[in-house]
Amino acid sequence: IHIPVLTIDGPSGAGKGTIAREVVLAKGWHFLDSGALYRLTGLHCQRCGVDTQDADLAAELAANLPVEFVVGAEGERVLLAGDDVTAEIRTETTGALASQVAALQPVREALLQRQRDFRQPPGLVADGRDMGTVVFPDADFKVFLTASAEERAERRYKQLKEQGADVSLAVLTEEIAERDRRDASRSVSPLVPAADAQVIDTTGIGVGAVFERVMAVLAER
Ligand code: C5P
Repeated sequence: IHIPVLTIDGPSGAGKGTIAREVVLAKGWHFLDSGALYRLTGLHCQRCGVDTQDADLAAELAANLPVEFVVGAEGERVLLAGDDVTAEIRTETTGALASQVAALQPVREALLQRQRDFRQPPGLVADGRDMGTVVFPDADFKVFLTASAEERAERRYKQLKEQGADVSLAVLTEEIAERDRRDASRSVSPLVPAADAQVIDTTGIGVGAVFERVMAVLAER
């Protein structure tokens, strides 16, 4: 049987996660947060004392991530080697580690099949940077969300503040710009829209309107 996939790619803070979760609720499909796998790999390297430039060791850790997703009283928790890292994987420090290991081809290969395994009936929403280009090139529906750098930094800032993090907008803007530069300029799976993706610029557009546009893409076939 054919299992439909919607890929949502784009830079950090473009609203991918928010939109992906809404589509998941509306359609009852599965959800792949591929960024979380890179974040977990980066954090696991750091905790194991593995250099994020060491491609082979980092790939070995990526292939054997001791990760568990558990649903508890406070919602879904992420455990790494038994330790609750739900909040820590969302910090910009972990985001930077993620983008370092994400530039290593062996790490990407180690995570490839694990990501494809998320494709289960009745369908999948896949959020990331290379979902439509590399992981699910045959996806039925592809969108690429963008927004101005200022707006993306502001959205991340609000999100982290709501989670109780102590962050500065100026520092966050610089960190995100640096991470985007690395993601867009790397030689393996650089951040680019798939040729057949619908590019949606979400600058100045509310979540509801973006959601409508993505649902319209899903209704096309
Ligand atoms: O989306 P998120 O901010 O959680 O991703 C963290 C980092 O993981 C990105 O900056 C990027 O370097 C990497 N990533 C990737 N490919 C994906 C998802 C994330 O390279 N499909």
